[in-house]
Amino acid sequence: MNSPKEYIAQNKTRFLNELIELLKIPSVSADPAFSQDVLNTSKAVKTALLDAGCDTVEIYETEGYPIVYGEKIIDAALPTVLVYGHYDVQPADPLELWDSPPYEPVIKETEIHPEGAIFARGSCDDKGQMYMHVKALEYMTKTDQLPCNVKFMIEGEEEVGSDNLGIYVANNKEKLANDIILISDTGMIANDVPSITTGLRGLSYVEVEVKGPNRDLHSGLYGGAVANPINILTKMIASLHDENNHITIPGFYDKVEELSTEERAEMAKAPFSLQGYQDALDIESVYGEKGYTTNERNSIRPTLDVNGIWGGYIGEGAKTVIASKAYAKISMRLVPHQDWEEITTLFQVHFEQCAPKGVKVKVTPHHGGQGYVTPIDTVGYQAASKAYETTFGKKPIPQRSGGSIPIVSLFEEELGSKTILMGFGLDSDAIHSPNEHFGVWNYLKGIETIPYFYHFFTEMKKS
Ligand code: BES
Ligand code: MN
Ligand code: MN
Repeated sequence: MNSPKEYIAQNKTRFLNELIELLKIPSVSADPAFSQDVLNTSKAVKTALLDAGCDTVEIYETEGYPIVYGEKIIDAALPTVLVYGHYDVQPADPLELWDSPPYEPVIKETEIHPEGAIFARGSCDDKGQMYMHVKALEYMTKTDQLPCNVKFMIEGEEEVGSDNLGIYVANNKEKLANDIILISDTGMIANDVPSITTGLRGLSYVEVEVKGPNRDLHSGLYGGAVANPINILTKMIASLHDENNHITIPGFYDKVEELSTEERAEMAKAPFSLQGYQDALDIESVYGEKGYTTNERNSIRPTLDVNGIWGGYIGEGAKTVIASKAYAKISMRLVPHQDWEEITTLFQVHFEQCAPKGVKVKVTPHHGGQGYVTPIDTVGYQAASKAYETTFGKKPIPQRSGGSIPIVSLFEEELGSKTILMGFGLDSDAIHSPNEHFGVWNYLKGIETIPYFYHFFTEMKKS
């Protein structure tokens, strides 16, 4: 294969401008106010895929947002790569914390990205990373170097749980048949420390309600005599971790896979600076489960975190009141073998049971998904590893991530194929946060590396 370097250098400005146009559309799947923008984004993705060389592209309508499916089949006897990505983005708020408007992309230099980074919601998660695949396809088709078949499945509901994608996949197994699934929706350790994501955590997301008296009460007249739902809720939440930061829900750890000493020693070889980690977050110390390192805590261990908590009076000044109800949203990140539905039930039973008399507790499950781990002794992983080695000049490190892409385990179940997670983002790119950005270098490096994956994968499959 010829090096894509020259083609990328010649088309760099256009590649950046095309992505910038895509980032201008606020495709927030969680907020119905943006529904027309989400639909417009699906059309833009369709056009981009056709321009990049797909033979056919269709917009598949669902009960939610559409799935864009495109393909280029050059020879049924050759292997097929299925690319998955998402064109929806997280809400941008709190808007006041952005240094530049989230849907007016700008390129600015940062310490970590001296060649500039594109600041916009979705730049890294996942429009920028998804678009690398579109441009990699363009390179391969325009220079006549596509070595195998390729299918694209780009959805618009990843950030809200991928409900309709599951149905689509189950109903279109033949159409989606492939030899390997390729996703860029994760990260790597650093620009000079390439890594390939070999695991994702599962997720159980619940909302809880604690209800006390039937109305808000005067905190003087009733305070001390009735259960205050906010006091109770915070006490119940606090009791979910013990003094070692272990989660106290009975049965929670039953299926957690304990890694061997060797596996943990292997993990510990990945370069990591605790001081740098703390400095980047402006914290004096890390915090977490006793007996595990920071990198273990955020990848191979399950967690429970409150994502939001509300109730009572939060307006200006003081109001003396005991609220009738208090609420919280809680996420549990799970590791392989923990079943998200089982964990949701364990949580529900425990939370209802640990409530004191005088309040009623309601647990509402939101969404969830299973975790995923991929072995590294497969053709897919080895091809990806060789691709990184070619373009980074270094062998990538396999690394399990703490994030979740719940649909990945479903792909394996329904389509029987493994997923390779070639992420080019950095943890510091602030995905889901204000000032999300994606390094220009990372974007172009992705476009450069992806064609090598196709090349090595096809070669290794043939032999
Ligand atoms: N791309 C992320 C997941 C991710 C990011 C995995 C970085 C590994 C490294 C994805 O878009 C995401 O945000 N997933 C959600 C779960 C989903 C069900 C809303 C998550 O992890 O919170
Ligand atoms: Mn994503
Ligand atoms: Mn996301």
